Amino acid sequence: MQIEKAIVRTHELVGGDYRELVLDASATAAGSVPGQFVHLRVPRLDGSVLRRPFSIYRARDGRLSILYKTVGRGTKAMEAIAPGDTVDIIGPLGNGFPLDEIGENPVLVAGGYGVAPLSFLAGEVAVKGTVFIGGATQRDILCVGDFESLGWTVQITTEDGSLGEKGLVTQALDAWLAEQQGTAPVHYACGPDGMLRAVGDRAVAAGHTAWLSLDKHMGCGVGACLACVQKIRGADGRVGWKRVCKDGPIFEASVIEWDA
Ligand SMILES: Cc1cc2nc3c(=O)[nH]c(=O)nc-3n(C[C@H](O)[C@H](O)[C@H](O)COP(=O)(O)OP(=O)(O)OC[C@H]3O[C@@H](n4cnc5c(N)ncnc54)[C@H](O)[C@@H]3O)c2cc1C
Ligand code: FES
Repeated sequence: MQIEKAIVRTHELVGGDYRELVLDASATAAGSVPGQFVHLRVPRLDGSVLRRPFSIYRARDGRLSILYKTVGRGTKAMEAIAPGDTVDIIGPLGNGFPLDEIGENPVLVAGGYGVAPLSFLAGEVAVKGTVFIGGATQRDILCVGDFESLGWTVQITTEDGSLGEKGLVTQALDAWLAEQQGTAPVHYACGPDGMLRAVGDRAVAAGHTAWLSLDKHMGCGVGACLACVQKIRGADGRVGWKRVCKDGPIFEASVIEWDA
């Protein structure tokens, strides 16, 4: 983990409100694994000292990219970042997805920008599995070509039915899981809290392993401020607080104590 002054290579709209920011960031890219994130100081954002966390989408050949959605003040200001600008990042941060027990039949579940770390994951493993990509509309469905070019099976759902199957991503996941009797697919998921919880609950009930990337508001991003804590059950059964930025953001579903 280090602070790096990264130079912006390209910055393009990739669909809907989503942009890909590609950086020359050789030090950070070199050590990055899927599921880790960078904490980015938004240039020219007056009055804000806080950085913003973004999953690493790609890290190869000295380049690192993120895929982000404009949702508020910081991401709106990011839209003005131009090629040649310098962007201050800290990274790679967090633990990353465990990949050593991925098995023969993995399933990825992504909501919105949650596809970013899962696309990175799919490119780092030899096995081909199934990926469910969900969003509110077709404008939220990204990276389909990434997975298809790697030989993964892609299933798309949108809440308004504008692309793929109409409904929630977990409905399509349920139908698929019902066909996988006798196997124990390892799950990897990234997306909004409600989706993560639904995926995790299903996996825990079925006795499957599910690695979830938690999405918490962050302050420091490096374990010092406790802005990002989550209740996690330890090996002794006792519930305590863990820092999503430092101990996570990836936790196995069965140890997460969700808020009521
Ligand atoms: C580990 C991690 C990885 C992430 N990866 C990505 C990514 O790859 N691409 C991407 O677009 N975003 C990602 N995010 C979310 C991203 O950090 C926030 O969208 C961003 O910080 C919002 O900044 P803002 O100033 O534009 O929004 P603000 O003005 O601060 O907030 C605007 C709205 O977004 C909500 N919001 C702010 N932060 C978060 C958050 N962390 N999770 C959910 N809602 C939030 C606020 O509650 C508010 O409703 C990630 C977050 C975490 C913790
Ligand atoms: S954001 Fe400061 S401890 Fe996690």
